[in-house]
Amino acid sequence: MKAVRYHQYGAVEVLRYEEAPTPDVSADEVLIKVAATAFNPADAMLRMGVMKDILPLELPFIPNVDVSGVIEKIGESVNGFQFGDKVFAFLDMTKNGAAAEYVVCKADDVALAPENIDLQDAAALPGGAMTAWQGLFDHGNLQSGQRVLITAAAGGVGSIAVQLAKWKGAYVIGTASEESISALQDLGIDEIINYKNELIEEKLTEKVDLIFNLSPLSSEEVTKLLLLLKDGGTLVSAYNPADEDVAKNLGVHVVRMGVQRNAKQLSQIADIVDQGHVKPFITERLALKELAAVHEKVGQTRGKILLLVNDLV
Ligand SMILES: NC(=O)c1ccc[n+]([C@@H]2O[C@H](COP(=O)([O-])OP(=O)(O)OC[C@H]3O[C@@H](n4cnc5c(N)ncnc54)[C@H](OP(=O)(O)O)[C@@H]3O)[C@@H](O)[C@H]2O)c1
Repeated sequence: MKAVRYHQYGAVEVLRYEEAPTPDVSADEVLIKVAATAFNPADAMLRMGVMKDILPLELPFIPNVDVSGVIEKIGESVNGFQFGDKVFAFLDMTKNGAAAEYVVCKADDVALAPENIDLQDAAALPGGAMTAWQGLFDHGNLQSGQRVLITAAAGGVGSIAVQLAKWKGAYVIGTASEESISALQDLGIDEIINYKNELIEEKLTEKVDLIFNLSPLSSEEVTKLLLLLKDGGTLVSAYNPADEDVAKNLGVHVVRMGVQRNAKQLSQIADIVDQGHVKPFITERLALKELAAVHEKVGQTRGKILLLVNDLV
């Protein structure tokens, strides 16, 4: 099959579009014929070897944790899936991923894809939507009527977090730059603070119950955000953490999250997408062989960039 792989850690140049063996399934796995995959910032960090001590990879390695596609083959102990099912999944990032024509994964990580969006577009959802769900609801315990501040609201995670928070009934404030304003308004955001020329602490008119930090702010900057929380509020950071001692003194909570695979949540997300409350925010659609060009842009992308593999409509 065709795949993008790297044979060593390093700069973007290590990514090669080449032939790779088509994987086969173990008893508890399924083989997915890939419709599309999406880029995540963590793919670039893994490629550079930044996380190799905690997440060692077997090289050559096929990146990409987000996938949509159809079930092509089913392991003998797998129940609940049939040949041809349209699915999406958030894959184990230490295993060969979806930057390929086929990928194998544990059947337990797979959910049926939403039906009211294009199957390829569904690949823009899994990692971002699960990070958003877990950050807002599992760690942040966001409730209807609460106020939430989402930093980097126009990113792959933020754009879904805005919509899930609105679905929950929260008042949503996000940080974004000028280019993202109309897209975020389209997704239902209530207020936008332009992080390029406005200060959050000056623009925010009232404290918030939850801050979901997705921006590249330093720990010192994230810690300053704690002052914007109501008593007993929570800051969940998916990137740099806030200072726990400062949080304790202020009477607020801090969580540094790490997203977990959870196909049940993915199914719930598919239902919410089918009900029309959430849609993927896709800014580019490229061919798989252009993945290296996407890695060049890490830190400068908005929404999700899709890599199209097989047209399986
Ligand atoms: N811990 C975890 O489990 C976990 C899981 C997923 C992601 N993450 C991390 O969470 C972060 C967000 O992920 P992502 O996939 O959403 O990233 P992303 O798609 O690369 O985010 C891009 C967005 O960041 C915004 N941005 C850049 N600098 C900003 C700043 N100073 N303030 C506010 N917004 C800024 C840009 O907004 P504009 O376009 O409006 O300028 C852009 O839209 C990344 O650091 C990622 O590694 C962690």
